[in-house]
Amino acid sequence: MNLEEIKLEYLQDELKQDDLHSDPLEQFKKWMEQILKAEVSYPNAAFLSSCDEQGMPDSRTVLIKSFGDAGFRFYTNYLSKKGRDFTHNNKASLLFYWKEFDRQVRINGFVHKCSRLESEEYFNSRSRESKASAIISPQSHKISREDLIEQYQTLLEGDKELVCPTHWGGFDLTPTQFEFWQGRPNRFHDRFQYTQSKNSWLITRLGP
Ligand SMILES: Cc1cc2nc3c(=O)[nH]c(=O)nc-3n(C[C@H](O)[C@H](O)[C@H](O)COP(=O)(O)O)c2cc1C
Repeated sequence: MNLEEIKLEYLQDELKQDDLHSDPLEQFKKWMEQILKAEVSYPNAAFLSSCDEQGMPDSRTVLIKSFGDAGFRFYTNYLSKKGRDFTHNNKASLLFYWKEFDRQVRINGFVHKCSRLESEEYFNSRSRESKASAIISPQSHKISREDLIEQYQTLLEGDKELVCPTHWGGFDLTPTQFEFWQGRPNRFHDRFQYTQSKNSWLITRLGP
């Protein structure tokens, strides 16, 4: 299969340094508002990379449920592969790619668990079926699908309250670096990196 013949052209408008917000979170919010308005699919999906004890990186998709001063919030199983990676190394990276806008945002930072109360609040907002899956699934561990279905059905029988398990909850990735990438014609893409400098952010244009 030859993929070399796939030629992409990026026709989007310029991302000017003067138009960037001095706060990368505000800049992210501005982009996210545009993405949400355009109703693209999976607007809040991001690729999350962790590293294991040996420094081997690993990536997977997660859904970012909120973002703010504490960071970018996603929910998962704390005993999953990513959860275990974070106990050894809480440095992580998030990547958003919105093909409809030829835009990419890279965010590096440190991951930490959110409060138990916040995890429980979010868990309680989910459907009964989603709660049951979160409770029974030993995410990233070997399973028998039949056993899993049986446990799921048993749990859903009756109207027993489904409580947020201690192995499930939110992580916040608190950013230390951002990069906003806007695809442009002839590979003259616009790239701006935000790095922390004391109490402000330093913005640098990077070569495409
Ligand atoms: C669109 C999409 C959204 C996903 N959202 C989440 C999520 O929010 N939380 C989660 O734990 N897994 C989510 N997953 C599944 C993960 O990509 C991954 O398979 C799972 O978390 C196990 O990863 P791990 O073994 O590296 O821990 C999502 C997958 C896709 C394709």
